[in-house]
Amino acid sequence: MDVNIVGKGAVGEELMALMQMRKFTLDTLRIFASPGSKGQALQTPFGSITIEDLADVYPQTQNQDGITGKLLEGYTFFCAGGDTSKQYAKLASQSSIVIDNSSAFRYDSDIPLVIPEINAHAIGSSKLIANPNCTTAIASIPLYLLHNLYGLKRVSIATYQSASGAGGKGMDELLLQQEKVATNLGAGQERYTGISPQVFPHQLIDNVIPRIDVISNDGYTKEEMKVDWELHKILNLHSIVKIGCTAVRVPVLRAHSEAIDVETARPVNLDEYRSALLHASGVTLSDDIERHIYPMPLTASNKYDVFVGRIRPTHTFDNGVTFFVSGDQLWKGAALNALQIAEYIRDHKE
Ligand SMILES: NC(=O)c1ccc[n+]([C@@H]2O[C@H](COP(=O)([O-])OP(=O)(O)OC[C@H]3O[C@@H](n4cnc5c(N)ncnc54)[C@H](OP(=O)(O)O)[C@@H]3O)[C@@H](O)[C@H]2O)c1
Repeated sequence: MDVNIVGKGAVGEELMALMQMRKFTLDTLRIFASPGSKGQALQTPFGSITIEDLADVYPQTQNQDGITGKLLEGYTFFCAGGDTSKQYAKLASQSSIVIDNSSAFRYDSDIPLVIPEINAHAIGSSKLIANPNCTTAIASIPLYLLHNLYGLKRVSIATYQSASGAGGKGMDELLLQQEKVATNLGAGQERYTGISPQVFPHQLIDNVIPRIDVISNDGYTKEEMKVDWELHKILNLHSIVKIGCTAVRVPVLRAHSEAIDVETARPVNLDEYRSALLHASGVTLSDDIERHIYPMPLTASNKYDVFVGRIRPTHTFDNGVTFFVSGDQLWKGAALNALQIAEYIRDHKE
């Protein structure tokens, strides 16, 4: 199996680790990154690999005749951002199966947006498959189970999103601020001296920031709208199902959490819902408040499953349920789900 990874940042790095962990057999691995990284040796779980530049494979991105480098074959994972995906992913899908982590194609009606536990069938014969937004991915399986049992009517989500959701640079910025505070305190200085945010619009340590991504006309952010659009597409929801989200960055290094309040068409039997969660793949029931067992980012980090707990009747609607989820957004929200899509194609289509 030939594998190509475009982007060696937070998601690309996790993807390589997961491929080794899940014994995803590969014959060759090519790594592409920004032009500035070209030629550097990258230490990977599969040995040292010299980083390439996609511009050498597709020197004229509008014209296939210009191809000079060796074409991409096997599976290509795009983990580099929407602009890179828009420029190269469709070209790459002419000679390999592309799984794209960016939002570039998620809303195209002819491109499947896939969570394998929910809609693997949507892959069909597509050579380009979109991987959902991290916040959407983490909410999707508990909402899918609920929809199957009782029918979704309204979903209200408040998120608690970690710094690494903004990539390696986001994680580094929070780590730097943590170090700075410790140094300041050690030197008897004011706690926040010398903190100057570059990635986030405000200091993240000791703070929460209720804006992620660009804003639209009605005041919602694109991150919030992604959850609405993508859940409709993955769960094949009718437009009468309403989904609202407030997306908030919190000073957590890894794993996103979400408080979810749902109105359902039919009354929810909480034991039946808990049992569905217990038996579903991709989720772990973590719901014993008396014993302080509930989803948390620390326990959800580096786990394949999304954790679901704090399950209780909604106080907002006549029928429905309220719950809390935590999931590793670099895994189920990105690299793991992308790899699971490739594994599904390998096991079912080849
Ligand atoms: N972080 C998350 O939790 C998360 C979750 C779901 C989806 N995603 C999506 O996954 C993608 C990657 O996110 P990330 O968090 O891994 O970002 P990141 O840590 O900032 O890494 C971005 C990577 O893209 C590479 N890159 C930039 N321009 C390129 C080009 N022209 N050709 C090839 N590679 C290029 C960079 O190369 P250099 O190393 O040379 O700079 C870097 O390795 C984004 O679309 C993001 O929205 C992220």
